Amino acid sequence: MRETIRFFLGDRLVTLDDVAPDRTLLDWLRHEGRTGTKEGCNEGDCGACMVIVARRRSSSEISGAEGEASRGRAMPSGVSLRAVNACIQLLPMLDGAAVFTIEDVGSAEALHPVQQAMIALNGAQCGFCTPGFVMSMVAYRNADTRSDDDAAIDSALAGNLCRCTGYAPIVRAMKQALAAPDSSFEERIRTLDDRLAALEDRADVEIETAQGNVFLPASAESLAHWLVAYPQTLIVAGATDVGLWVTKAMRSLPRVAFIGQCADLATIEETEDGLRIGAAVTYEAARAALARILPDFGVLIGRIGSTPIRNSATLCGNIANGSPIGDGPPALIAAGATLHLRRGETRRSLPLEQYFLAYGKQDRREGEFVEAVSVPRQKEETFYRSYKISKRFDQDISAVLAAFALCRDDSGRITEARLAFGGMAATPCRAPRAEQALLGQLWNETTLEAARDALAEDFTPLSDMRASAWYRQTVAANLLTRFYEESQGETMRLAKAGSLTHV
Ligand SMILES: Cc1cc2nc3c(=O)[nH]c(=O)nc-3n(C[C@H](O)[C@H](O)[C@H](O)COP(=O)(O)OP(=O)(O)OC[C@H]3O[C@@H](n4cnc5c(N)ncnc54)[C@H](O)[C@@H]3O)c2cc1C
Ligand code: FES
Ligand code: FES
Repeated sequence: MRETIRFFLGDRLVTLDDVAPDRTLLDWLRHEGRTGTKEGCNEGDCGACMVIVARRRSSSEISGAEGEASRGRAMPSGVSLRAVNACIQLLPMLDGAAVFTIEDVGSAEALHPVQQAMIALNGAQCGFCTPGFVMSMVAYRNADTRSDDDAAIDSALAGNLCRCTGYAPIVRAMKQALAAPDSSFEERIRTLDDRLAALEDRADVEIETAQGNVFLPASAESLAHWLVAYPQTLIVAGATDVGLWVTKAMRSLPRVAFIGQCADLATIEETEDGLRIGAAVTYEAARAALARILPDFGVLIGRIGSTPIRNSATLCGNIANGSPIGDGPPALIAAGATLHLRRGETRRSLPLEQYFLAYGKQDRREGEFVEAVSVPRQKEETFYRSYKISKRFDQDISAVLAAFALCRDDSGRITEARLAFGGMAATPCRAPRAEQALLGQLWNETTLEAARDALAEDFTPLSDMRASAWYRQTVAANLLTRFYEESQGETMRLAKAGSLTHV
C-alpha cells in the first residue's frame, strides 16, 4: 500500500501525500504557477484548460493502435499523449502519468512548431483560448491517428472553442505543424517510457486527508474488497460527469475510489461472440475495436463530447451514471449488449436495458460495481444503425438518440427487432410496442407505418431546453423512416446526392 500519488509535471517528479479527492488538476496547476493553463467554462466545454497527459499504453490501446497501424499508419510508441480538460480531471487521477502544460512545450526563445505555425499563419488569437488550442494541436501532432485531413483536424480541435475570429487559420497552422520536424519537446517524450515505467509499482494507494479519502486500487480485486468494506465510496472513472459535480454543483467528495489505474479493468477482450470492454476503458481507447464490429457506433462515438472528453470518459461510466440522455446506452442496447456487475467475489450479468430501473435508479446493489460491458458481434443479416440528434454537431448532448437493429429471414420476414432510444423517457430503453409491430412482418412501408404509430404509444417524452415533446416524438418516428430507407439501399443514393450526413 502506498500513501502518496506520484506523477511528472513536465520533467519534475511530484509526490503528494495530502491530496483531497475533489481537488481539480486545473486548480492545482494554477497554484503551482502554471497560469498559462486558463479557467474558462470549468465544465469541459471550452478547452481553455487543455493539458497533455502522457501514459504508458494499456493493452487495450496497443491493440486498438495496431488496428490503425495495419491500415497504413505509423506504429505507436510505448507512450500515448492525450489532450484532457484539466478543469474536470481530479488530481489523484494523475498517479503514474506525466502532465505537460503550455509552459512545457516551448519557450519564447524556442517555440514549438505548433506555436511557430500559429503565429506565422495568424492562428494565435486571444490569450485565453490560444494555449488550449496549442495543447490540443501538440497532442494531435503526436497522435497515432494524425492526418492532414480537414475532418480529422476539426475533430481533434472540437473541444477548443473560439468566439472571436474563427478556426480557418488554426486549421492551416495545424497542417503546417504536422509537416514540421520533431522539436525538443518530442525528443523529451521519447525518453518518457522508462521514466513512467519506474513509477509502476502496481500498489494500491490510500490517502486520508482532512478533506476526504482517496483510494486508487491497482486491480479489480482490490476495488471489490474495498467496496464491500466501504460501500458508500464514490467510484470515479474518467470524471467527465463527476468533475462537474465538483465544479458546478460545488459538491465535496468525502470518499472516492479512482479506477483508472486498475490494469485489469482497462482491457478490451476480443471473444468469439464480440468484445468485452472493461470499466476503465475510455471511449477513445474503445473506439477502433467497437468500430470493427459495429461500424455505425464507431461513427457515433466521434460525436460523443470532444476528443479530450473521449480521452477521459469511459463507456461504462456512460452506462453507470444512468442518464436518460447518455449516447452509449441506447446504441449498446440495440446491439444486444450485456452488463457485468461485481460485488466482492460475486458476479452477475444482465441485458443492458434491465440495468435502468427508473430515473436516477439503476440495478446496482450496495458495494457493487460495473466490471465490464460485452458487445456482441452482429449476425451477417443484421441491419444496425445509430443516430444522434442534437443542436450542434460536436460537443453537444442529444435531444434524441435512436439505435435500431433488425434481422430478416429468407422470406423477408422480421425475426428480430431491437429499437432503443435515449431522450424519450426517464431511462434509456427499448420501444416494445413498435418492436411488436415489426416482428413476423415483411419489412415494407405498411409495416413501417404501423411501427411509427406504435412508437407514439411507447413514449410520452418531455419538453425541455433541448427539444419539445412534439419534436422528440416526430424525430423518433422520422429516424425509423430513415432507417427503413437506408435498409432499402438508400444510403448510397442519398450520400451521393450529398444529403446524407450523420446527424
Ligand atoms: C463537455 C462534455 C461533453 C459531454 N458530451 C457527452 C455526449 O455527447 N454524450 C454523452 O453520452 N455523454 C456526454 N458527456 C457525459 C460524460 O462524458 C459521459 O457520461 C461519460 O461516458 C462518463 O464517463 P466517466 O468515465 O467520465 O464517468 P465518471 O464521471 O467517472 O462517473 C460517472 C458516474 O458513473 C459512476 N461510475 C463510473 N464507473 C463506474 C463503475 N465501474 N461502476 C459503478 N459506477 C461507476 C460514477 O460513480 C458516477 O456516478 C459529456 C460530458 C462533458 C463534460
Ligand atoms: S475551463 Fe473550459 S474546458 Fe476546462
Ligand atoms: S481565440 Fe479566444 S475567443 Fe477566439
